Amino acid sequence: MTRHSDETRKTASLKRLRLTDFRNFETLDLDIDARPVCLAGPNGSGKTNILEAISLLAPGRGLRGAETEEPLRRIGETVAPAWAVYAETLSETGDEATLASGFLDGRRRQTRMDGKPASRGELARCLPMIALLPEHDRLFAGPRFDRLKFFDRLVAASDPSHGETLGNYEKLRSRRQRLLDQGRVDTDWLDALETDMAGHGVALAAGRLHALARLQAAIDTAEDGVFPKTDLALDGMIEAALAEGAELRDAEDQLISVLADERGRDAAAGRTLTRGPHRSDLGARHREKDQPASRCSTGEQKALIIRLVLAQAQSLASYGGKVPLLLLDEACAHLDAKRRKGLAEAILELGAQAWLTGVESSLFSAFGEQAQQFSVEQGRVSV
Ligand SMILES: Nc1ncnc2c1ncn2[C@@H]1O[C@H](COP(=O)(O)OP(=O)(O)OP(=O)(O)O)[C@@H](O)[C@H]1O
Ligand SMILES: [Mg+2]
Repeated sequence: MTRHSDETRKTASLKRLRLTDFRNFETLDLDIDARPVCLAGPNGSGKTNILEAISLLAPGRGLRGAETEEPLRRIGETVAPAWAVYAETLSETGDEATLASGFLDGRRRQTRMDGKPASRGELARCLPMIALLPEHDRLFAGPRFDRLKFFDRLVAASDPSHGETLGNYEKLRSRRQRLLDQGRVDTDWLDALETDMAGHGVALAAGRLHALARLQAAIDTAEDGVFPKTDLALDGMIEAALAEGAELRDAEDQLISVLADERGRDAAAGRTLTRGPHRSDLGARHREKDQPASRCSTGEQKALIIRLVLAQAQSLASYGGKVPLLLLDEACAHLDAKRRKGLAEAILELGAQAWLTGVESSLFSAFGEQAQQFSVEQGRVSV
């Protein structure tokens, strides 16, 4: 097992992570190198908190979707006045950066790069990351909404503008629904709003299709035999139209007309039942077993979703981006020894700085010396 030898490949990684009054950490100052980082410790020690802190250096509300004040360290009734996450990135090409995210005195959370405010795109390009959480174990058997959200996050890791497009579409969708809820079903305002919504909606669907094709190609060419091959499909009205070759303009017209036709129904239902891109779904089949992912065992579903994450990381690296940071919370739970070894090998082959958590250090034994091992205990980290 060796690290990936392609000299030209860029990798997102951290060389230092500091936390201040973040959840159960009073302070943390961790020096690391580019190897994967394994965090072992008992339940409630702070492992997921560390991954969450890193995730707040990316655009969005972090892997727990936390409200801004939530991470403030609490001890009984006492709440710390501020929290901060600071990281220095490591770069083989010399473009090191410092990233900081924090919250102070009721102001908005601020995320800065090299001391200056940074856009979503700059942050995502500097430190792309993909998170895999325990709740994703049942993603294929669970609600459509969660699956779509997971997939959109994967897409946004390779295309930061995807997150913005999604945000714009959702903003317009709730504005439209508010108007409908007020009984205003026939206004010029709605016409304009739906036209805008269709523009973002079609861009959203097109971004998903584009990412799906790359993801599927990365899955098909993966050479390890441990994680199952998956056949992915996007189920959505606009995605289907585009896949059949519709022009963007025609797909927009289709969405505009459906939205207009369905105003009455959406008003009566109090929610957007129209089959826009917010109601799309990601289908996945276990190729070898020829069955939908939802019917696979818990461990098999975990292996399928790990396959998606690894393939997306691979796809990002292949198309000129960086190998993303992988935040793998409890990724080894439910994996047998062969799959744990396969995961370690795949991460090392990719050259990713994966941050893995687990309740036992033995879960990471397949990495040997090729990963950094830490123990986490009551908000403290030791070697
Ligand atoms: N704002 C906060 N202030 C202080 N402590 C907090 C705060 N938010 C969460 N905690 C505590 O941090 C501790 C560690 O949580 P975390 O989720 O990181 O545990 P973990 O090591 O991932 O455990 P598990 O193995 O069960 O997943 C928990 O006891 C939790 O109650
Ligand atoms: Mg945890």
